[in-house]
Amino acid sequence: MKTSRSFDRAAGFYDQTRPLLEPIATYGIPAILDVIGPNAHLLEAGAGTGRMSIPLLERGIDLVGCDLSSTMLARFQEKFPSAPIVRADASLLPFPNAQFDAVMTVHVMHLVPSWREVLREFQRVLMPGGVYLNVRTWASVGRSVAGQIRDFWRCWLSANGVDGGSPGVREDADLQRELVSLGAAISEVEAVRFPDRFNLREELERFESRSYSETWDIPDAIFDASIKELRAWVTHEYGELDRDIEDEVRCVIYVARFGAG
Ligand SMILES: C[S@@+](CC[C@H](N)C(=O)[O-])C[C@H]1O[C@@H](n2cnc3c(N)ncnc32)[C@H](O)[C@@H]1O
Repeated sequence: MKTSRSFDRAAGFYDQTRPLLEPIATYGIPAILDVIGPNAHLLEAGAGTGRMSIPLLERGIDLVGCDLSSTMLARFQEKFPSAPIVRADASLLPFPNAQFDAVMTVHVMHLVPSWREVLREFQRVLMPGGVYLNVRTWASVGRSVAGQIRDFWRCWLSANGVDGGSPGVREDADLQRELVSLGAAISEVEAVRFPDRFNLREELERFESRSYSETWDIPDAIFDASIKELRAWVTHEYGELDRDIEDEVRCVIYVARFGAG
């Protein structure tokens, strides 16, 4: 059976490779505050190194962070020593029923095979009328270059008998359907659109250095072959590798509001 993807191995490089981008700090964090209100008791499940939790704590939000990974949480604690954090699996939360006004996940649900059970846990720990926010700080608008590079890599692996995809939610629509079946009303808040600028060679390097979690479980031999193919395809498709790309991306908050009971 597949297990959730803990980020223990990423704690040493997570903050360098996934910094809080300026548009998210300026527009994403205030948009989250607008949804939950200033007095919410909030749980961030899969809080990691506190990239999103810390700016919310700094604004006075009463927040608890939990994560599977003790090394990610140790980084969080180093940066914000008074942060209330708990090592826990989101599918078995160590909290009584009806504790929180809001639960938030940010780039987590694609990592969790038991995501349907996790949604039930969120509903259990939420007060009646509580809200679940699933935040994507980075989502392509249309066909992005970064998305095409990723698609090529996944397709190549799949054609070579390896499922390189994520162990959890693959489509936002699946998550939303499940939430509707639990009685939630869904809405969407687009916090900001912004240009994501990157260099092709650096993007390839992020694959090659296994910075992305979906590269972690691929056996070495097939992984090395996939990178060789990816490099050749990117060079053929976009010309030279020392080229700067600009994709349009957006930060979006999917909001699921549960009934008041
Ligand atoms: C991509 S990181 C996102 C961290 C943070 N939310 C952010 O946006 O920077 C995903 C985090 O989810 C955690 N995670 C994965 N499965 C989990 C589970 N079942 N329960 C709790 N945390 C989990 C990982 O350990 C990792 O720290």
